[in-house]
Amino acid sequence: MSHIMSPTFPTVRLRRLRQHPVIRDLIRETELNLDDLVHAIFIKGDKGDKQPVLSMPGHYQIPLSKLDEEIEEIVNLGIKSIMIFGVPSTKDAYGSDSFDDQGIMQKAIRQIKKLAPDLLIISDICFCQYTDHGHCGFMDDHHGCIDLNNDKTLELLVKQSISHVQAGANMLAPSGMIDGAVITLRRALDEAGFEHIPLMGHTVKYSSAMYGPFRQATEGAPKYGDRSRYQMDPANGNEALREAAVDIMEGADILLIKPAHTYLDIIYRVKQTYPHIPLCAYHPSAEFSMIKAAAEKGWINEKRVVFEVLTSIKRAGADFIVNYYTKEVARWIINKE
Ligand code: PBG
Ligand code: ZN
Repeated sequence: MSHIMSPTFPTVRLRRLRQHPVIRDLIRETELNLDDLVHAIFIKGDKGDKQPVLSMPGHYQIPLSKLDEEIEEIVNLGIKSIMIFGVPSTKDAYGSDSFDDQGIMQKAIRQIKKLAPDLLIISDICFCQYTDHGHCGFMDDHHGCIDLNNDKTLELLVKQSISHVQAGANMLAPSGMIDGAVITLRRALDEAGFEHIPLMGHTVKYSSAMYGPFRQATEGAPKYGDRSRYQMDPANGNEALREAAVDIMEGADILLIKPAHTYLDIIYRVKQTYPHIPLCAYHPSAEFSMIKAAAEKGWINEKRVVFEVLTSIKRAGADFIVNYYTKEVARWIINKE
């Protein structure tokens, strides 16, 4: 008998467990469910046609006149949560559309809530697509250098947040990496009687090239400079734990890490360090588009790659994933393709 046939040799035992599909299901460690996926969509304008986002095949800037169709499709696919990004028709130094009762987000949120009251709306809270300079907050002169004014940005973030919640948003995701955003928004929400609205801080957000297509979709690329002062250096991992500690102290209900697939080590470390705090990973636009592009060329099996990538993000420690593939995953699950 060769050593490989020995009853104590571990690979033999693993093969025994793999040989029957039902056993494989019984012992599977990570399961990807539709309930773990938040679908991200872009909304722009009152009427007209959906405008394709060229770098994100299958995604559109959806006008309010076409939003009901989109929401019906999402609900019929069994999707229970969405994250929405508004693209305003006017931009200024303050990002005023973001806290205007007639702003794109406010109108969209009210419309979605009316049509699908049970669909969870997570609202992105930031300024980059609303400001004329494309930065994530209010910019002014700091000793001859134009930089983000953190305190003024916090003030404006409060206005935006309260306005989104008044329109019907169920959860807020401040995404700008603005210092003190979580504690400031928590206090403001509580004071305004919105104690029940959870905050999902963009705890760990890298200054990443994985957001390129998103900036096209939201027309929010910075007109000068970059976001590396307020977003994290991709070379640093330990810093993620410091950012997580701060957000937890500030009262974040859920931590968010972005990007996801290129930062599995960060997801793993944050989950191992704070296993008791819910963790969300954001699979961003370029991580979506890279898979799409290879799939369109016929170089990969799209469905298998998507399930493998999303499963790996959960296996690393994410409880759920914001992503651009939820509709396709839902169809794949429904059609058992
Ligand atoms: C900005 C914001 C970004 C994303 C969501 N909100 C990135 C950025 O441009 O800094 C990226 C999401 C994606 O790429 O899908 N507040
Ligand atoms: Zn931003």
